[in-house]
Amino acid sequence: MELRVSAVVTALLLRLTCTGAHQPPGEPAYDPGLPPDLHSPHGSLWPLPQTVVISSMVYRLSSVTFQIVHSAESTASVGCSILDNAFRRYYYYIFGSSTGSSQRQATLNSTGGRGPGPGELRQLQVTITSSDPECNQHPRITSSEAYEITVAQPAATLKSETVWGALRGLETFSQLVYEDEYITHLINKTEITDAPRFSHRGVLLDTSRHYLPIKVILKTLDAMSFNKFNVFHWHIVDDPSFPYQSVTFPKLSEQGAYHPVTHIYTLKDVQTVIEYARERGIRVIPEFDTPGHTQSWKGQSNLLTPCYNGEKPSGTFGPINPALNTTYDFMNQFFKEISWVFPDKYIHLGGDEVNFACWKSNPTITEFMKKQGFGSDYRKLESFYVKNVLDIVTSNLKGYIVWQEVFDNRVKIKSDTVVEVWMARNMKAELSKVTLAGFTTILAAPWYLDYISYGQDWQKYYQVEPLNFNGTVAQKKLVIGGEACLWGEFVDATNLASRLWPRASAVGERLWSSEETKDLNDAYKRLTKHRCRMVQRGIPAEPLFVGYCDYEYKDYKEFN
Ligand SMILES: *[C@@H]1O[C@H](CO)[C@@H](O)[C@H](O)[C@H]1NC(C)=O
Ligand SMILES: *[C@@H]1O[C@H](CO)[C@@H](O)[C@H](O)[C@H]1NC(C)=O
Ligand SMILES: *[C@@H]1O[C@H](CO)[C@@H](O)[C@H](O)[C@H]1NC(C)=O
Ligand SMILES: *[C@@H]1O[C@H](CO)[C@@H](O)[C@H](O)[C@H]1NC(C)=O
Repeated sequence: MELRVSAVVTALLLRLTCTGAHQPPGEPAYDPGLPPDLHSPHGSLWPLPQTVVISSMVYRLSSVTFQIVHSAESTASVGCSILDNAFRRYYYYIFGSSTGSSQRQATLNSTGGRGPGPGELRQLQVTITSSDPECNQHPRITSSEAYEITVAQPAATLKSETVWGALRGLETFSQLVYEDEYITHLINKTEITDAPRFSHRGVLLDTSRHYLPIKVILKTLDAMSFNKFNVFHWHIVDDPSFPYQSVTFPKLSEQGAYHPVTHIYTLKDVQTVIEYARERGIRVIPEFDTPGHTQSWKGQSNLLTPCYNGEKPSGTFGPINPALNTTYDFMNQFFKEISWVFPDKYIHLGGDEVNFACWKSNPTITEFMKKQGFGSDYRKLESFYVKNVLDIVTSNLKGYIVWQEVFDNRVKIKSDTVVEVWMARNMKAELSKVTLAGFTTILAAPWYLDYISYGQDWQKYYQVEPLNFNGTVAQKKLVIGGEACLWGEFVDATNLASRLWPRASAVGERLWSSEETKDLNDAYKRLTKHRCRMVQRGIPAEPLFVGYCDYEYKDYKEFN
């Protein structure tokens, strides 16, 4: 009897669970008989621009006649390769895909012709207004990404101060173009004024836990540009492996990489990534995390602390040894190299999760602690080390970003240090504290995309409001952005793209669009189409929910 009841209850529960599972939160129940209504007044724009007015007047674009060109009044012209390449790239994003759709075309051709069509739009004219368009520069934290688009006859126009705004505007323009059922390319009459809400919009990739082939990194940079991200935080080395091939210290990767030849990033590889990123308006910030997370730095002798088992060395090694002068000689040379290899103003110095057990076991360290008057406070030892490294980096005219522990442990940091908040616990209190102390802040805590779960977790990332903490207006101004972090324990080339996209897209819109952009229903519609567009452009972004794309993923040929 009891058994029977419990079986019925179980069956009911199962049924409820299943029904619930097939219903997108915030959406009406899915009806398999009808395709979901994906019409948004904002089309398929992602991230949503600050102001958009789309009218119902429609123009036609022809792949034969349409051109993206420099306007006569632009301060940039043919020869500004960053724009020339972007013009070519976006022409392909707009028209390239239809060449692979002959089957759809054939089916549709037989469904009949069309009447007199809409007027044709023949040009997008791009105007750079600043006397220095920055064609040959690298994007910076202070670069303007603002732009304006007008789609109207006789030509569409895109205006920005420098090339960086133009790159963002080209992406937006390409998102305005759509195909009708006859595969005709259409665009509505539109006015857009746009600029990002936050200036630091990053994606972190981890190339230590798994090696990521250069091609995978470049594809990620493509996808980042589709989502208007502008920082590639390259967590390049960590405990498991050291794939960065140092010019000054080649032994580091010889002994620290998973494979000294096939699983490394040469200087040329790194420069390829930096240039590819630059062409898409993306800064590359490398992270060399110390003194913890350094097991793979074993190629440099006497750098890591030998751990002791009682009186004797145990044969294992701990964090970097802060008690030796040779450590700082090494760091000086190493960061001199990093400072010229990576042109960005900032280097990420890590500083998280330092385990003190090995330091505690080592007699040389104990002696050093005594001499320095640190007592038994190993945080003081850590601070001593970090302070020295920060000074080394400063002497190379670089700024630095550190994980929040460096601030929490009261290391003396320069007033222009950027503190990255990553711990989800007490995140709001931490934001209050860091900004109250006057430090510029980046938020990563709510966006650890390596944590996966069933369902539409993009909504959770989307609903985060970065400035929802107690603080003054001045404090809130110090939050310059955030990062979507894809740590590499369970990620390599096989699943990186589908795990990152479109989940990171939610973070992309949160960091670009206005605070008022938070309608989940509208976001669902736009993101569903944006995800199909990424698929069409060769990124195997995973689906949000039940549905289909006009162009399903099938190893599309690359656009570059
Ligand atoms: C574009 O114009 C068409 C035709 O008037 C209209 O149906 C459609 O809703 C418009 N698109 C947007 C995003 O407003
Ligand atoms: C469909 O029609 C277009 C335009 O008339 C034509 O260019 C194309 O070759 C046709 N495609 C097929 C597969 O018949
Ligand atoms: C390390 O450098 C400091 C400061 O220059 C100096 O006082 C100290 O004697 C040096 N220690 C060793 C072991 O050379
Ligand atoms: C801000 O502080 C007030 C009062 O101390 C508290 O009630 C509130 O929850 C805090 N808000 C946030 C977002 O932390």
